[in-house]
Amino acid sequence: MHQQHLLFPFLILLPFSCLLFTSSSQATFQRYLDCLPVPFTCGGLHTNISYPFRIDSRRDYCGYPGFYLNCTNNNTTLTITMNGTLYIVKDLDYFNHIITIMNSDFSGHPCPLTYTNTITDTTIFEFYDRNQMLNLYLNCSSPSIPSSLVSIPCLLEQTGNRSYFSLLSDGLQGFIPECSSTAMIPVKEGEAARLSNNSTAFGDVLQEGFMLKWIAGRGWCSFCINSGGVCAYDGNNPLDQTCYCPYGSTTGVCSEGTLFIKFS
Ligand SMILES: *[C@@H]1O[C@H](CO)[C@@H](O)[C@H](O)[C@H]1NC(C)=O
Ligand SMILES: *[C@@H]1O[C@H](CO)[C@@H](O)[C@H](O)[C@H]1NC(C)=O
Ligand SMILES: *[C@@H]1O[C@H](CO)[C@@H](O)[C@H](O)[C@H]1NC(C)=O
Ligand SMILES: *[C@@H]1O[C@H](CO)[C@@H](O)[C@H](O)[C@H]1NC(C)=O
Ligand SMILES: *[C@@H]1O[C@H](CO)[C@@H](O)[C@H](O)[C@H]1NC(C)=O
Ligand SMILES: *[C@@H]1O[C@H](CO)[C@@H](O)[C@H](O)[C@H]1NC(C)=O
Ligand SMILES: *[C@@H]1O[C@H](CO)[C@@H](O)[C@H](O)[C@H]1NC(C)=O
Ligand SMILES: *[C@@H]1O[C@H](CO)[C@@H](O)[C@H](O)[C@H]1NC(C)=O
Ligand SMILES: *[C@@H]1O[C@H](CO)[C@@H](O)[C@H](O)[C@H]1NC(C)=O
Repeated sequence: MHQQHLLFPFLILLPFSCLLFTSSSQATFQRYLDCLPVPFTCGGLHTNISYPFRIDSRRDYCGYPGFYLNCTNNNTTLTITMNGTLYIVKDLDYFNHIITIMNSDFSGHPCPLTYTNTITDTTIFEFYDRNQMLNLYLNCSSPSIPSSLVSIPCLLEQTGNRSYFSLLSDGLQGFIPECSSTAMIPVKEGEAARLSNNSTAFGDVLQEGFMLKWIAGRGWCSFCINSGGVCAYDGNNPLDQTCYCPYGSTTGVCSEGTLFIKFS
């Protein structure tokens, strides 16, 4: 009686097993399981981890290089490193491929004192046009400034020096008053709008971070997911559109055969 119950599913699977259960497909089935999205919480951020992102507990092939996320600071802060700078991850939007990050130097500082230009790793991210560049002029001694520059009161308070921002889209102006430094920091477009009508504070704008669009998986990853697979990275064939399917690995999308087995 007991044995009959065990035998029944075995007989159904048998024809497929002969066709498909090679050792290599078992290995890719394992990779499929390894790389399935997992719910993940770090501090107040509740998200899922899946390609192109990877966390410590996941295998290398589940993420694309450069998308390593680290839950630090006693499991309260999700971070990513880009071109040597540490950023705090505020949001992951898998549907639109958008990550929202802020420079970790700004964290917990209502009015940071030092600024460096934000350098984007353009090999894996592209700039998102819902940001606007905040052009900063710091420690300025010139008494006459162009009217496009707006004073930053909190820096004046803290340093006794005048500092300014400009939101002009053509970047830092050719004519710069005598300032000890300048910097270009991307901020969210909506925050920039609120800053220009004085309905938010300079420091609060920085705390909102900025958005980047990630390139890895663009175009093909959603097709892989919709066909029942998980997107992944093959270090030996980094340009491949690696898609691990429930019963095998492909490039691009899972074939209909694998879909049929998945639902059988
Ligand atoms: C994580 O993924 C599951 C399954 O796709 C989805 O239902 C859930 O809303 C996701 N959670 C977040 C926080 O995005
Ligand atoms: C993750 O963060 C911790 C704490 O800051 C650090 O010690 C560790 O090296 C980081 N891991 C990686 C792979 O960067
Ligand atoms: C880390 O978090 C735990 C649990 O929230 C807490 O009990 C502990 O005091 C924290 N440790 C530090 C060093 O903040
Ligand atoms: C963070 O959380 C992970 C998983 O829940 C746990 O293994 C680790 O010990 C925690 N680390 C700290 C510093 O609390
Ligand atoms: C940023 O990092 C990427 C990859 O590590 C590198 O290719 C690129 O040259 C760096 N960009 C700058 C401006 O340093
Ligand atoms: C102003 O100049 C001082 C000394 O050069 C520097 O330490 C400080 O960071 C500067 N402040 C800003 C906002 O650039
Ligand atoms: C004010 O700016 C001057 C140079 O522009 C700098 O030498 C000085 O350290 C600054 N003061 C503060 C408190 O940042
Ligand atoms: C300031 O601009 C924002 C964004 O454009 C807008 O939503 C808000 O109503 C404006 N506030 C005032 C006081 O004009
Ligand atoms: C913006 O608001 C601050 C305080 O809320 C005020 O001191 C300042 O004059 C305002 N600036 C403009 C241009 O309205």
